[in-house]
Amino acid sequence: MEVVRLLVSHHANVNHTTITNSTPLRAACFDGRLDIVCYLVAHNADISITNKYNNTCLMIAAYKGHTDVVKFLLEQGADPNAKAHCGATALHFAAEAGHLEIVQELVRCQAAMVVNGHGMTPLKVAAESCKADVVELLLAHADCDPHSRIEALELLGASFANDRENYDIQRTYHYLHTAMTERYRDPDNVIAKELLPPIEAYGGRCECRTPQDLEAIRVDRDALHMEGLMIRERILGSDNIDVSHPIIYRGAVYADNMEFEQCIKLWLHALRLRQKGNRNTHKDLLRFAQVFSQMVHLKEQVLASAVEQVLSCSVVEIQRSMARVDTAAESELPQALDNYESNVFTFLYLACISTKTTCSDEERARINKHIYNLIQLDPRSREGASLLHLAISSSTPVDDFHTNDVCSFPSAQVTKLLLDCGAQVNAVDHDGNTPLHVIVQYNRPISDFLTLHAIIINLVEAGAHTDMTNKQKKTPLDKSTTGVSEILLKTQMKMSLKCLAARAVRQHQITYRNQIPKTLEEFVEFH
Ligand SMILES: *[C@@H]1O[C@H](CO)[C@@H](O)[C@H](O)[C@H]1NC(C)=O
Ligand SMILES: *[C@@H]1O[C@H](CO)[C@@H](O)[C@H](O)[C@H]1NC(C)=O
Repeated sequence: MEVVRLLVSHHANVNHTTITNSTPLRAACFDGRLDIVCYLVAHNADISITNKYNNTCLMIAAYKGHTDVVKFLLEQGADPNAKAHCGATALHFAAEAGHLEIVQELVRCQAAMVVNGHGMTPLKVAAESCKADVVELLLAHADCDPHSRIEALELLGASFANDRENYDIQRTYHYLHTAMTERYRDPDNVIAKELLPPIEAYGGRCECRTPQDLEAIRVDRDALHMEGLMIRERILGSDNIDVSHPIIYRGAVYADNMEFEQCIKLWLHALRLRQKGNRNTHKDLLRFAQVFSQMVHLKEQVLASAVEQVLSCSVVEIQRSMARVDTAAESELPQALDNYESNVFTFLYLACISTKTTCSDEERARINKHIYNLIQLDPRSREGASLLHLAISSSTPVDDFHTNDVCSFPSAQVTKLLLDCGAQVNAVDHDGNTPLHVIVQYNRPISDFLTLHAIIINLVEAGAHTDMTNKQKKTPLDKSTTGVSEILLKTQMKMSLKCLAARAVRQHQITYRNQIPKTLEEFVEFH
């Protein structure tokens, strides 16, 4: 306060805005400093300046729960119905955060019940986030019709069934029962539910339609959990951003109880919803790599069809993350690249898991098809490493939540799999290194001899050129860091007259451009 006073007395601009169009007043509202807010307003600060998302000072104070600041701003004539870029009003923010007194204050100042950009009213927002007292208050709002009353009660009950912080199954039943009673209040005019078709992931159950249906599952927790998920998907819509979190939470509870099949069904459902909504799914995919790894480690059977579905989604996600990198603004590029790379790593974990999964020939073919599809996209790390480089590099990071119990690199199985699915054996990274250049630098040639041996053989059999040079003009043999890899390489090297000739041309700097066929020029160049 002292500093603010000093600065303002020396003519600091009270309306100064930052790059994101934030003002000093906004900062004071965020922190709930009523004294500074009053001082700035007394010195003509403009209370209507919004940040770059058209988010007002009133909204931030409402969200942060600063009741005194909210009251003051309203007295100063702040517009309670201003809308942010996302369509939300101050009432949405207060309702979501569960600040009852602020909700009351806004309603008293004629804040309207409008939908935001996700089709949510403040009432629905409060119900979705388990803010029961706010819901009960807003049910009395003038804009609330019987249909939205029932929906809000159902959504509130449903949300209590699958929320980590607010789990309360008694309240689930209580609110679902209240809603059902309202549906049947007038026996001649029952307000029937408009049900979605049954969803396999939710046990293929149908939502309760009658008070009797509901009574029958009163003490069946599992049924109430699934009822909650169904209700949320019906009311929020399958493309709503909040639908997937409770599904994932419920899946995680199953996984904790070692009920992996249920977990995977729910997570696959959530993954499909999120992918359909064009959302970033890199965390979802990694979660699958973790649970599959845990299962392999515990010797639980991992279904090939599940791995196949996740691989398929993973290809889509990598394709999208490549596009996001191409179109990212400069400030977003590092994050976009991080996501892209971590998607590629996750794909390798899944590929590794697929080598440890029992598959029929048909299932194997389907899995390989996805791997083939990804290889065609040719994703690369920041250093230009291809999938094959990453599969044989000990510096490829491995996630440490269960995944590293099962996956490690270099991996002979993944190398073989990628080669079988068409990976380019002589692909080069930004330093001109081929996969063979990478593997000969493996630092565990004795303790992990079998891996080193298998990979070198696989690469050479797939046509790896043993005398290809990188940008420093070094062949794999030059780059070998151990005697073991040197010997392995030498025994595999197939001398061909063509290669010897190419090296001689390079070594003695004989002119060859336009003297030999074009295809041979390229061949000479990598020697
Ligand atoms: C700040 O904005 C308000 C409202 O537009 C205006 O009245 C006031 O003069 C501005 N103050 C300064 C220092 O620009
Ligand atoms: C943000 O507010 C400005 C000024 O009130 C308005 O012209 C603009 O249309 C708003 N933008 C969005 C996306 O709501």
